[in-house]
Amino acid sequence: MRIVMIGSGYVGLVSGACLADFGHHVTCVDKSAAKIDALEAGQVPIFEPGLDAIIEHNRTSGRLDFSKDLASPVAEADVVFIAVGTPSRRGDGHADLSYVYAAAREIAAAVSGFTVIVTKSTVPVGTGDEIERIFRDEFPEKDIAVVSNPEFLREGAAITDFKRPDRIVIGTEEPRAVEVMREVYRPLYLNEAPLYFCERRTSELIKYAANAFLAMKITFINEIADLCEQLGADVQKVAKGIGMDKRIGDKFLHAGPGYGGSCFPKDTLALVKTAQDHDSPVRLIETTVAINDNRKRAMGRKVIAACDGNVRGKKIAILGLTFKPNTDDMRDAPSITIIQALLDGGAKVHAFDPEGMEMAKEVIGPITYGKDPYDIADGADAIVIVTEWDEFRALDFKRLKSMVRTPVVVDLRNVYPVAEVTKHGFSYFAVGKKN
Ligand code: UGA
Repeated sequence: MRIVMIGSGYVGLVSGACLADFGHHVTCVDKSAAKIDALEAGQVPIFEPGLDAIIEHNRTSGRLDFSKDLASPVAEADVVFIAVGTPSRRGDGHADLSYVYAAAREIAAAVSGFTVIVTKSTVPVGTGDEIERIFRDEFPEKDIAVVSNPEFLREGAAITDFKRPDRIVIGTEEPRAVEVMREVYRPLYLNEAPLYFCERRTSELIKYAANAFLAMKITFINEIADLCEQLGADVQKVAKGIGMDKRIGDKFLHAGPGYGGSCFPKDTLALVKTAQDHDSPVRLIETTVAINDNRKRAMGRKVIAACDGNVRGKKIAILGLTFKPNTDDMRDAPSITIIQALLDGGAKVHAFDPEGMEMAKEVIGPITYGKDPYDIADGADAIVIVTEWDEFRALDFKRLKSMVRTPVVVDLRNVYPVAEVTKHGFSYFAVGKKN
């Protein structure tokens, strides 16, 4: 199969590289000349464990190439994936589809022969219909099918998620497109990953509903965590206890500082807007969005409370800035709001993150960056774990105790058993547990 991936961002690169690894010929296209030049020179512009090796292997074996020009690879393609960004539109929170439709028009002008156009980007219900309309009205002679095939990749685990998916959702009722999509995913199908075919609109909604449900599950356990603190219960044990019920499941029940990232905040908001527009509000998700927004600021207040209610002039050491581990992504990271609350309270914030500091410098105010946890903990009045990077899971608390000014640890990811920290003389504040 000849596959073209329009958009060589996170989704496009991971999907393109993995499809090449399945034996297809894949061209990843991007308008950014700098990005394509870097990729052609063997540099991978994003941090994702395992991705470099797959790109390198397929690039050198000729199955994966890169292009600034869309027209010539699209003319040769059997399948064209649209994996361009769909950010929140400024002002109203709807998904901004201008990149998707611009890509669709360029693709339409270039395709020849029967071609399957697949939306991989997260797009609101009805986007596939609109792309089809563009083809029908503006390029009626072209023979195409428009298919929805949402991605369910988690940053930091994207390669495994692509190669070992729980399911592959494919929205089309066009028999020729069904055959082509079966061929695209044949290696996974042989691996017994279920291909789930449904109507295009249903498939588009599945993506939003899945992300909204997961965001709601996290928000649920976060509220239970707050209640645990009041009642003297332990949220990790509550999560385990309810998660053993197969109807509930044990995933996405880690209480923390609120969800962030490039997907949940944007997709929940877009679903809320779409639902309101159709006079069918999704109130659970509206509430989820509001609770999660408040939670990030509340986590700043939690740190201040742990510092006896006042951080003015105090040094706070922040461990972890990215919205989760194994990524350099700072989009909607809880750390941004937490740090702002601390700065507003007059704190001196020092931070360390294994991968996110470059991106953090662009979005966070005047703070000091250090080279490791011990570097920033020197003379600190509190150590705050915001992101659960593996390298924060075995901190040397004895050493830390000898260097801090005030022995306080606020663990917003429940990385440690309470006793492991308190035995070194620290006051320890976790999420959803009694201090
Ligand atoms: C999420 C979904 O998990 C993917 O299935 C989906 O494809 C992707 O969005 C997308 O729409 O592209 P991602 O945003 O990479 O993936 O990260 P998650 O692992 O889902 O974490 C999202 C946020 O929730 C993070 O801030 C994380 O710390 C938080 N989280 C997650 C919790 O606070 N508790 C949990 O139990 C799980």
